[in-house]
Amino acid sequence: MTRHFISLNDLKKDELRSILDRSRAIKKNPDAFSGALRQKTLGLIFEKPSLRTHVSFRVAMYELGGESLYFGPADVQMEKREPVKDLARVMSSYLDGFVLRTFKHETIQEFARYSDRPVINGLSDFSHPAQILSDVFTMEEKLGDLKKRKIVYVGDGNNIVTSMLFAFSKLGFDLIYSTPKRFAPSAYVLRLAQLNAKKSGSKITTVWDPAKAVEGADAVYTDVWVSMGEEKIASEKKKHFKGFQVDSKLLKLAKKGAIFMHCLPAHRGEEVTDEVMESKNSVVFEQAANRLPVEKAILLYCIK
Ligand code: CP
Ligand code: NVA
Repeated sequence: MTRHFISLNDLKKDELRSILDRSRAIKKNPDAFSGALRQKTLGLIFEKPSLRTHVSFRVAMYELGGESLYFGPADVQMEKREPVKDLARVMSSYLDGFVLRTFKHETIQEFARYSDRPVINGLSDFSHPAQILSDVFTMEEKLGDLKKRKIVYVGDGNNIVTSMLFAFSKLGFDLIYSTPKRFAPSAYVLRLAQLNAKKSGSKITTVWDPAKAVEGADAVYTDVWVSMGEEKIASEKKKHFKGFQVDSKLLKLAKKGAIFMHCLPAHRGEEVTDEVMESKNSVVFEQAANRLPVEKAILLYCIK
């Protein structure tokens, strides 16, 4: 069976754990994996801009001994030039796997239905699984066993917190999230996360007041208030985020030495201040660097 990586909710706890374990082995000794995907070619099909996901997946593929081809928004024009289902069948006859970044999550799902090669979600409006698995890796590196830790997400109820909800509830870690009521994660996402949490023994909690949510936290995570594709509603949406900026005052409510995380790109002066980004608490660049070993492990999980 083709192993896709489209939503963290599709993977079993053991599978997530084994990708994380392999990421650790890869980070420790990258040379041991240098020929693992020799003669394989990965296609990146992106409808939206990207720096980290684009570069890290291509370098990951190269360092595993393979090749990659990038198709930006102007190259492929999914649905405009030809239907996704045609594209998927043509492309999967040439290539060994794909990373897709799309507006609609359904585009990735449809592509995967018609592709007999693995499809990795490189961000959709619904989720960003490669990012969040990599972030769990960073949190474990920094904080050890996350079962003993208080991890708090503050901000928009978007693709990032959706993937966090799936990852944490599957892996048995507690998660507290604080979003404006109007921009909370959907009832559908919460239902899935609560089902996982029941099975894994974790606790998913909403705390509407960001200051209360952050009290005593070991890690505070935020993301942009306006995601790619939401530019038209930007000014209206931002009005709802008063009190949600992660500034030094908010971060002081967390534990001393708490880590600050952001998937990047960050909008300094909106969801986070420059001071917090540059503070000792901030691990955002280590977080970005860890995309590489974790994406190698994801590629090996899917393609090998
Ligand atoms: N965090 C992240 O996915 O960054 P890019 O949008 O630059 O790929
Ligand atoms: N929520 C953001 C994440 C960017 C990596 C977006 O979708 O634009």
